[in-house]
Amino acid sequence: MRLLLIGFGTVGQGLAELLLEKEQILTDQYGLKVQVVGISDMLKGSIYNAGGINLQQALKLAKSGKKLSEMPDNFDGDAVSLITTADADMIVEATYTDIKTAEPATMHIRTALEKGMHVTTTNKGPIALFYHDLAKLAKEKGVQLLYEGTVMSGTPLLNLIRETLAGCTITEVKGILNGTTNYILSEMEQGLAYDDVLKKAQELGYAEAVPDADVLGWDALAKVTIIANTVFGEQCKPDDFPCKGITEISSEAIADAKSRGKRYKLIGKVWRDGNTVKGSVAPEEIDMSRPLAGVMGATNAVTITTDTLGDVTIVGPGAGRNETGYSALVDIIHVGGLR
Ligand code: HSE
Repeated sequence: MRLLLIGFGTVGQGLAELLLEKEQILTDQYGLKVQVVGISDMLKGSIYNAGGINLQQALKLAKSGKKLSEMPDNFDGDAVSLITTADADMIVEATYTDIKTAEPATMHIRTALEKGMHVTTTNKGPIALFYHDLAKLAKEKGVQLLYEGTVMSGTPLLNLIRETLAGCTITEVKGILNGTTNYILSEMEQGLAYDDVLKKAQELGYAEAVPDADVLGWDALAKVTIIANTVFGEQCKPDDFPCKGITEISSEAIADAKSRGKRYKLIGKVWRDGNTVKGSVAPEEIDMSRPLAGVMGATNAVTITTDTLGDVTIVGPGAGRNETGYSALVDIIHVGGLR
């Protein structure tokens, strides 16, 4: 499996570390030899070597804030020209999410699919805005388009629904879909100031490049739209759903809710209402006796309501370097032939 990493920030580097750490397991358990042949990053430059690039050196340069173009395998071109030129089987699209335009990520994905390459993406923009078009293109080209990391990072919500709950009718998907805001609300309850906690969430790799996307609810809204499109088969856009973030929740309001046995959580949900599918993002006061109230930090939790099994709940990391890197790894293993 020859890979191109498009975007070498938190997620791309998290995946690179996992590929090095799990090289043996991938070979022994899955018969999969994964070779990164190219990387392109808007800030760090591009590299390409058909025989495989030195991933350790690339990680070292990225961590010390240096450009990849310092490496001997420097490629003189951007992501699109790398995808067009390179001899590779799959791309990992992990550039920043722009939820308004979904670019340049959508262009990267389209270029790869057109060329007959498999794609995994952790980028919410293309799947929230253009899922059906991209899935159609992937089908026409006979390749896979996977996107596990777009919701709940590496916690397997989408795989769980698609594969393990196959045959169930899903009537509602509801829960904590944004790690940053859950982390902020949790830390504010401990008496920390909003600005300090947001900064920490950025340092920990939870927050989006522009953290407004987290605190205003747009990130959760993108995930709600992804669930509506991919799980419920709708043709939705983020603007179709009401969205409210956490910026109006003060430390005082959090303490007051606590004194009444409640806890604020930013809840995203998608549900079937007769023949229509609805969705929303808004803070809710959750009773402390309810499981969602106990989910703290960057952890996410989602309850899937099904016709056959009733409620199935999945709890796990919702953001982070390794956690999101892992989602790309599991997609690579799926494409490579899960046994
Ligand atoms: N900023 C997102 C979050 C990252 O905090 O949940 C994962 O999508």
